[in-house]
Amino acid sequence: MTAELKQTIKDMVVVGKGILAADESVKTATKRLASINVESTEETRRQYRNLILTAPGIEKYICGVILFEETLKQKTNSGVLFPEHLAKVGVVPGIKVDQGLTELEGTQSEQYTKGLDGLGDRLEEYKKMGTRFTKWRAVYSISENIPSDLIIKRNAEDLAKYAKISQEHNFVPIVEPEVLIDGNHSIDTCYKVTEKVLKEVFEDLKKENVIIECMILKPSMVISGKQAENRAPVEEVAVKTVKVLKATVPPELPSINFLSGGQTPEEATAHLNKMHTLGEDLSWYLSFSYARALQGPALKAWQGKDENIKAAQEAFLQRAKLNSLATKGEYSEDMEKEEQIKEV
Ligand code: G3H
Repeated sequence: MTAELKQTIKDMVVVGKGILAADESVKTATKRLASINVESTEETRRQYRNLILTAPGIEKYICGVILFEETLKQKTNSGVLFPEHLAKVGVVPGIKVDQGLTELEGTQSEQYTKGLDGLGDRLEEYKKMGTRFTKWRAVYSISENIPSDLIIKRNAEDLAKYAKISQEHNFVPIVEPEVLIDGNHSIDTCYKVTEKVLKEVFEDLKKENVIIECMILKPSMVISGKQAENRAPVEEVAVKTVKVLKATVPPELPSINFLSGGQTPEEATAHLNKMHTLGEDLSWYLSFSYARALQGPALKAWQGKDENIKAAQEAFLQRAKLNSLATKGEYSEDMEKEEQIKEV
């Protein structure tokens, strides 16, 4: 384990803080901006990133931000490169290094993640731009006979290879196996799939000699499908998520930072909070690495208008604060009704 990897873990595993995912690809960012009728251009995407990343006091709740390549080269309104700005306020900048999804032959249109070719060279470039950790997302749909053994195997192999290459270049890898929420499956089906996926991922990480102490897991929660009729309540999600993690994740892993995956911001916060109030002995830090659940309310408040920037930043900081409280089991639903924080 190098001193650099050790330091990055120290800076990213901080009680009361979590990771912001701001790594939407141009395609996804365009979709998000379209939802508030804002045209997606390099400049509007920069303005939106600026709003979020320069929110005053972001560092109170956020210890790391996952960026998209385009944002690395863009600047804040005051002319500072975004990774430099984040480092200056004490937030670790990271980079999404996967290159999206493509169909895996031999499956029923299941998708694996591209991006291993030339990864080492890209990492050297990203290092020069100040980033210290990486992220790679693999996805698993749930439906009849899906996910297949083939996709589970392929994704695990590639996540492990990616993590190994990242550590060789002194980047802390965030390993993100996302069991998708879409569908009408039950929470128990989600449990079974998640268990199988995580087992295979950790087997392959060990085979590749990835240093478990120097990586972060970013999983989905064990949850009912979004279209399921009777969706499991908050406590069941928390209990089953902690159970599957205890069954599959080695204790030496320092941190597990969940994705929100289409949960509402309130659901994502309540689920995380509940996990911390179950009285379970947890060997890893349990926190968040949300994109939509942190940024959704801010995007809505902004509407692409300068006069709304302050309100949008407050909405973002409010969500970050509530999730920070959730990492300590100190959040309650009543706080959703409280007036947004005016000062941070
Ligand atoms: O890869 C997906 C993001 O890092 C997490 O996004 O919280 O909106 O699911 P999400």
